[in-house]
This record gives sequence, structure tokens and C-alpha cells, in this order.
Amino acid sequence: MSQFAYLVRCGDGSLYAGYSPDPLARLAAHRAGKGARYTRGRGPLTLAFAQAMPSRGMALRREAALKKLPRAQKLALCEGWKNERLSLARAEDAPAIRQLYGWYVEHSAATFATSLPGGEEYARWVTESAAAYPFLLLKDRTGRLLGFACAHRWKEREAYAWDVETTIYLAHDAAGAGRGRRLYGALLALLELQGVHNAYALVTIPNPASEGLHRAMGFAMQGVQPDTGYKNGSWYGLGTWGLVLRPADGAPAPVVPFPQLDDAAVRQVLALG
Ligand SMILES: CC(C)(COP(=O)(O)OP(=O)(O)OC[C@H]1O[C@@H](n2cnc3c(N)ncnc32)[C@H](O)[C@@H]1OP(=O)(O)O)[C@@H](O)C(=O)NCCC(=O)NCCS
Repeated sequence: MSQFAYLVRCGDGSLYAGYSPDPLARLAAHRAGKGARYTRGRGPLTLAFAQAMPSRGMALRREAALKKLPRAQKLALCEGWKNERLSLARAEDAPAIRQLYGWYVEHSAATFATSLPGGEEYARWVTESAAAYPFLLLKDRTGRLLGFACAHRWKEREAYAWDVETTIYLAHDAAGAGRGRRLYGALLALLELQGVHNAYALVTIPNPASEGLHRAMGFAMQGVQPDTGYKNGSWYGLGTWGLVLRPADGAPAPVVPFPQLDDAAVRQVLALG
């Protein structure tokens, strides 16, 4: 079951931070005066922000961080949550995803790719990726793509069946406002529901924003390959970052292909995460 950190807006304008596997049920409890002493008598109460997390521990840590955020930052998160929506990628989204990613192929070493696949090949890659793991998009109200996050099998050998490599890219003018956390939280929560055990990310050195995001989401740096890629006139290293989604405790259940995941659980993460 996914976990969520959330903010409830009270009638007096204050924002209360909590965590729950079901923020809407929790909101009902707050409204009934049973959620928390703070929210009692402060109605009307509305859900102002929620963020999916792959574990209770991570949702608790996010709740603690939300409580400490300055009010202006809490309000900015609420604004984004209201105006930007998570969705699953479809074939018709491929041109926008390709365009967003293409900027990094050309201008950045965040990806070691130096050329962009053609439109048809890219669309095939999107639909094949989405058939195995969540391929998440974040769009604004006009339908503009702000970012995407997806996962692929880490290695093909059978024993790696419980491991994925995660990928995330925001539009180059959309970074630094909590969208990375939002997309990654939802992606990791859904991967955990599928039964994935380990998420790995390959992060260019240097890439402070990506390192910051992975650290914030609980990943740990597990290894470094110095000066392993040459792009746009410079050499770059690569860090392998890892996050344990499920502990290595006995024989693992098979990973559920994403399209077979419980629909209600997926809808909950997309609607609230
Ligand atoms: C990496 C990326 C996805 C992060 O998304 P984002 O929306 O900018 O990150 P968020 O605002 O959600 O911040 C997440 C955490 O990272 C930290 N962070 C973000 N940008 C940072 C920066 N430039 N330097 C240091 N830390 C940074 C934040 O402090 C935050 O931690 P906190 O909430 O505990 O303060 C985004 O910057 C991006 O798309 N970059 C270009 C593509 C890329 O590098 N993709 C990853 C390839 S491995």
C-alpha cells in the first residue's frame, strides 16, 4: 500500500502536515474531529497537498520535513499540486517527451546520449517501457509536459528481475520547484507496489540537482566510475545510486507487470501523488 505525506488547509489558512496511506479517509477523520488535536474546530478543512512515498518511513520523514518548511514554500507546493497533474504516458505523448529529453541530449551531460532516436523509434521505446513499469508524466493545466519519470529493468539476467534503473527529466525551465520529488515519489511508490526490490540510478558527476534529488529520496551513492564518459568537450564520471524498496528477506514474489497492478491503487497515486 502506498503512503502519502499531506497538507490540510484549515479555515484559518494554516497548513497542517500529516501522513497516511489514504489521505482522503484521513481528511474525513480530520473533519470529524478525529484526525489531530490541531485541526479540531479549525474547519472548513481541505486537502491542499499530498505526495506519494514508497514506504511509511519515507512518508514520515517527508511529513517531518513538510512541518519545518517555511510557509511560502508550503504554499508553493500547494499551488503546484493544484495546477499540475500526474498521468501515464501514452504513445501520443512521445513527441513531447522526445522534445523535452532532446534538450538534454544536445545541451547537457545529464544523459550520455549524444543523438536522439527518430520519432517512431522513440514512440516504440515509450510504449514498450510503459508496458513493464510506470511511465509517469507531469503536465500543467494547458497540457504542457513539465517532466517525466520512468523505469527499466536494471539487467536482463534472470536473477536481476527485482531491480530497476530509474530515470527522470524535467523541462529545463521547470527544475527546482519540488516537481522532481513529486514525480519520483509517485514512481517509487508504484514500483514498490509492483514488488520491485531495488531502484538504481546512474547519475553524471557532476550533477548537483540529480544528486540532491536522489539523496532527498533516500538513495545512497554505491559506486563511482571516474571519467567514464566524454561529451561536449569534457570527461564526466558516473555515480551509481541505490534505494532499497523492499528488504532482501527470503524468496521474493514475482514482480507484477505494471498494467496488471490494482487499478484503484494506481489511480490513488496518480490523483493524489
Ligand atoms: C534532477 C531533477 C529531476 C531534480 O528535480 P527538481 O524538481 O529540480 O528537484 P526538487 O525541486 O524536487 O528537489 C529535490 C531535492 O533535490 C535538491 N536539489 C534540487 N536541485 C538542486 C541543486 N541544483 N543543487 C543541490 N540540490 C538540489 C533539493 O534541495 C531537494 O531536496 P530537499 O527537498 O530536501 O530540499 C531536475 O533538476 C532535472 O530534470 N535535471 C536535469 C535532468 C537530470 O539531471 N536528470 C537526472 C538524470 S540522472
